[in-house]
Amino acid sequence: MNEEALNHTPVLLNEVINAINPQSGKLYFDATFGWGGYSEKLLDTCACKVIAIDQDPNVKEKASELKKKYGDRFNFIESKFSEITAVLKKMGINKVDGFMFDIGVSSMQLDTSDRGFSFNKEGPLDMRMNSSGKTAAELISSIQEETLADIIYNYGDERKSRKIAKFIIEQRSISPIQTTLQLADIVSKANPKKKFNQKHPATKTFQAIRIYLNDEFNELFNGLASAEKALNEDGRLCVVTFHSTEDRIVKNYFSKSSGVDSANYKNLPSIKNDSQASLIPFKKAIKPLENEIKMNTRARSAKLRYATKTSSIPNNFSLEDIGFKEFH
Ligand SMILES: C[S@@+](CC[C@H](N)C(=O)[O-])C[C@H]1O[C@@H](n2cnc3c(N)ncnc32)[C@H](O)[C@@H]1O
Repeated sequence: MNEEALNHTPVLLNEVINAINPQSGKLYFDATFGWGGYSEKLLDTCACKVIAIDQDPNVKEKASELKKKYGDRFNFIESKFSEITAVLKKMGINKVDGFMFDIGVSSMQLDTSDRGFSFNKEGPLDMRMNSSGKTAAELISSIQEETLADIIYNYGDERKSRKIAKFIIEQRSISPIQTTLQLADIVSKANPKKKFNQKHPATKTFQAIRIYLNDEFNELFNGLASAEKALNEDGRLCVVTFHSTEDRIVKNYFSKSSGVDSANYKNLPSIKNDSQASLIPFKKAIKPLENEIKMNTRARSAKLRYATKTSSIPNNFSLEDIGFKEFH
């Protein structure tokens, strides 16, 4: 990895730590270690313990630094959200006092050109958070036009999805699409910028392909469900998201666990039955202050939601039950 890529400014750091409300002697779980910003702040705040996971093996160097500094109080395991229950079981841990999720990609992943996440930096079209599964180049080389359009629409909220998919498939028959800038250029031709200050025209397409390849919505849902099951009463589940669909998954998950049937939001008055609530969500999403956004533009779309675990056993429900169709 390039030296300049080894950095990530944690977003909503103080807000997340306040929401977790850490206490000495308790155990917390950082599900998205990244460059360790949340873990380190928690460990410095009080004499608690932290277990951290990340599916990206490149963060191990930073995890070793924290291990040296905090000894037994810190443990890192290379793993993913859908394996949280297995990780805890293997460590012989039944209950945790708080979970933190900081969803999406880190600045290190975005800024390292050979990871292929950035539409601004030339690199191989990879986009995998770990080294397993198909690369974005492999996906694009064989996918059907209609499926590609559905991915761009469903995971990127991109209204021009059909036109972009058509352009990609046409270009692919002329020459293979293997680099980030090649793809960014094709998408920009299909979806030209209308205003100077508009986001890069490939933003949503890159986001959609990354989310699909890394199965991010299922991972997020599985992570929330595993965390809820492992939380002690009064423990907090804190989630920072960076775009509306991820936020909707978290919001609907919290609502469903609190006894509100969010799948019926549009048609029915919401019915709350507190006796069944296994989570009590904080009433609204917390956003970064202007000052943080000025210092770190990545923070501009961030939202923190958190909920407190009750003594009730969590209900079983699926991603589809909170309004998201499985899409493969
Ligand atoms: C925004 S960064 C976290 C930054 C971190 N809070 C910090 O302060 O440095 C997100 C991290 O989550 C990891 N990640 C994303 N999805 C994951 C998943 N399903 N399982 C495990 N790690 C995941 C990414 O590899 C990335 O390192």
